[in-house]
Amino acid sequence: MDKLQLIEKELQGLRQAGLYRSLLSVEGVEGPFVKIGGKRYVCFCSNDYLGLAGHPRIKRAAQEAIERYGWGTGASRLVSGNTTIHEALESDLCGFKGTEAALVFPSGYMANVGTVTALVGKGDIVIGDRLNHASLIDGCRLSGADFRVYAHKDVEGLEGVLRRSSQYRKRLIVTDGVFSMDGDLAPLPHIVELAKRYKAILMVDDAHGTGVLGKKGKGTLEHYGLEGGVDVQMGTLSKALGGIGGFVAGNKTLIEYLKNRSRPFIYTTALPVAACAVAREALKIIEKEPSRREALWRNVRYLKEGLKSGRGVLQYAPTGLQVPEVESPIFPIVIGDAKEAVALSMSLFEKGLWVTAIRPPTVQEGTSRLRVTVTSEHTQEHIQTLLQALV
Ligand SMILES: Cc1ncc(COP(=O)(O)O)c(C=O)c1O
Repeated sequence: MDKLQLIEKELQGLRQAGLYRSLLSVEGVEGPFVKIGGKRYVCFCSNDYLGLAGHPRIKRAAQEAIERYGWGTGASRLVSGNTTIHEALESDLCGFKGTEAALVFPSGYMANVGTVTALVGKGDIVIGDRLNHASLIDGCRLSGADFRVYAHKDVEGLEGVLRRSSQYRKRLIVTDGVFSMDGDLAPLPHIVELAKRYKAILMVDDAHGTGVLGKKGKGTLEHYGLEGGVDVQMGTLSKALGGIGGFVAGNKTLIEYLKNRSRPFIYTTALPVAACAVAREALKIIEKEPSRREALWRNVRYLKEGLKSGRGVLQYAPTGLQVPEVESPIFPIVIGDAKEAVALSMSLFEKGLWVTAIRPPTVQEGTSRLRVTVTSEHTQEHIQTLLQALV
């Protein structure tokens, strides 16, 4: 058998297990609607929680930046790709997150990998929640540090590892703020306290909390009233901010260190200026238009109530639709079997609703699910249609 046949065999295995992935081509986007194959669908699987990706001010900001700087940045930030707009965005992010400094990366994935691998290595330990995002896990694996995982939100398990880790030079705890596939929140007050007690560095990935949680949309730390309690605050510009890119916010030493040590920061072309301009505009809109966040949370409550009242949804999710646990716009409808999750997703698609099935390895074996996300752009009618379709 030649090399490519081996790859084809692996693909066949994925197909048989219901784990084969393929791309759907979106032909256009308008508010919560997408056009696919000439037909309009209501999208219930986007992370554009505040509908900013298509906001007229966002489009204008991108156009103006392209006019002034062009599209590409031509080199890495440390060569010739750094602009005043990158720095202005970093300064805005410091204001937003309440930190001394911030650093922008071309994606949230790179921010996570680039930060964990810079902070720890051989002789150190990194400890993470079992359901952390793949980019954090990849950072932990690549770092060369000893990597320990604790059960989801199990602070006692975390403390057990910390207690037995005094021989390590550095200890790093990493957790999602909002868990991306489950929508629940990390028990941060307890984790912050443990990090202090055991002198561990604490990194929180707030990809899904940024712009969404807290009175001013500053994220999971604002939600808990823990500003200042976390050493490394990671976020993305790609979800509620409606754009592309990732960032890390923290003290000046941390950020200077990352500029010097983070390979995914050093060895890649700078984020396009248009993406920076868009993120700056998004931060302004988040500050000036709280009505968007209010609309989002109205929709979260509306869907939550609809799911709670049953209306047939639970029959699809005997193993774990934990509606009362939902604390974010992410609703996991756990089906279990991968093929069944895909079948349900396809039956919704036939009814004009787009909810992607999430399967291993993104989630654990036996927990394939529909990951429903609501945004500020949905109407109650759209949500009603989804609830009825689930029946
Ligand atoms: C929790 C979490 N962290 C990081 C990322 C990566 O962010 P980005 O899509 O900006 O690379 C994602 C997005 O999938 C995520 O859900």
